[in-house]
Amino acid sequence: MTADETDRAVALLNRILEQELAGVVRYTHYSFLVFGFGRIPIVSWLRAQAAEALAHAHLAGEMITLLGAYPSLAIGELLDSHQHDIGGILRDSLASEQQALALYQDLLAAVEGRSVMLEEYARQMIYAEEQHAGEVNKMLRRPGDVAAFPA
Ligand SMILES: [Fe+2]
Repeated sequence: MTADETDRAVALLNRILEQELAGVVRYTHYSFLVFGFGRIPIVSWLRAQAAEALAHAHLAGEMITLLGAYPSLAIGELLDSHQHDIGGILRDSLASEQQALALYQDLLAAVEGRSVMLEEYARQMIYAEEQHAGEVNKMLRRPGDVAAFPA
């Protein structure tokens, strides 16, 4: 990759890092606000998502320093929608996961054919994020609804 291409990849990786760190905070915050019968499995699912977002942040940060660049200390946008019913939490997280997915897709487009390592990384992350979005989509369907929840 040329220096310009590396800079472009690093800029996207920094936005990915910030977005994943925002995910850690968002899922942790939501996990405090789940009440009712479903609380125990939903809290543990939200905390698992926070842990996964942190693992994704670690991967992005390590990739940035591997490329000899400086990792951002900033964090992605955190909006408190005060949506605390489970459907609201899930719709919010689906929207933020879609933003992360778009960044990984931008990264793939930027490195395709230029770096096997970054290309593989971007593809694996797109696979993981799309699977995750699909899982959230299933959680938003009513029991018995097979059709995908509208985007
Ligand atoms: Fe992620």
